[in-house]
Amino acid sequence: MLRVEEINVTYGKAVALMDVSLHLERGELVTLLGSNGAGKSTLLKCVSGIKPPIKGRTIFDGEEIQKLPSHKIVQRGIIHVPEGRAVFPDLTVEENLRMGAFCRKDENAVRKDMDFVFALLPRLQERINQSAGTLSGGEAQMLAIGRGLLAEPKLLMLDEPSLGLAPVLRDNIFAVIRQIYQEKDITILLVEQNARWALQVAARGYVLENGRIRLEDTGEKLAANPHVQRAYLGY
Ligand SMILES: Nc1ncnc2c1ncn2[C@@H]1O[C@H](COP(=O)(O)OP(=O)(O)OP(=O)(O)O)[C@@H](O)[C@H]1O
Ligand SMILES: [Mg+2]
Repeated sequence: MLRVEEINVTYGKAVALMDVSLHLERGELVTLLGSNGAGKSTLLKCVSGIKPPIKGRTIFDGEEIQKLPSHKIVQRGIIHVPEGRAVFPDLTVEENLRMGAFCRKDENAVRKDMDFVFALLPRLQERINQSAGTLSGGEAQMLAIGRGLLAEPKLLMLDEPSLGLAPVLRDNIFAVIRQIYQEKDITILLVEQNARWALQVAARGYVLENGRIRLEDTGEKLAANPHVQRAYLGY
């Protein structure tokens, strides 16, 4: 479904990604591990067109997309839920969710997805008319995920969805991701601080270090890898 081929991304003179290749097959949940500054967010930004590569290709459903503007990439079904709970603070919860569905024409299908999101995230329904700026951090994160779902993703890229959340809310977010994965025909690329959980839920994973892919394997094998255990699982 997605194929990233030997991409380089730079910020000025600094090289953030160097010859990075990865792929996701339809229906897979793949995780991307790496320490702070490894280039994880940059990779998601590259795929979603926010930060195009200076070299290499990204191919989605058989077509090159690395030169497309980000709104065209969204239209193809690649939805990026960025780090840091990006919601529109002055809009209500419902308006934020509607923003996700902005480009969709089939109102019935949108309504259905809205119901799915509310069933998945009942807290959002309880706060439907609350302005997003007054939500707690965890609620705002849920809203960001909900908005992503309303955009009808084929590929959903989640950047550190559990960052900064208390354990209960974090587990809640994990359960939600698992449920999206199981109940919807959505492929997921997950960047997650909690490597232990990410490797459990993901079919496969990549380890990014200093802008390069260092390891690539099944979740199970990565969890058993001594380097991964030392660097990311705290053994
Ligand atoms: N807009 C920018 N301008 C300059 N350098 C940047 C910019 N954004 C990121 N970088 C640099 O690129 C490198 C990769 O950053 P990136 O945000 O992709 O890392 P990350 O793996 O997501 O880290 P974290 O786990 O802290 O979120 C870092 O060295 C960072 O300082
Ligand atoms: Mg990041």
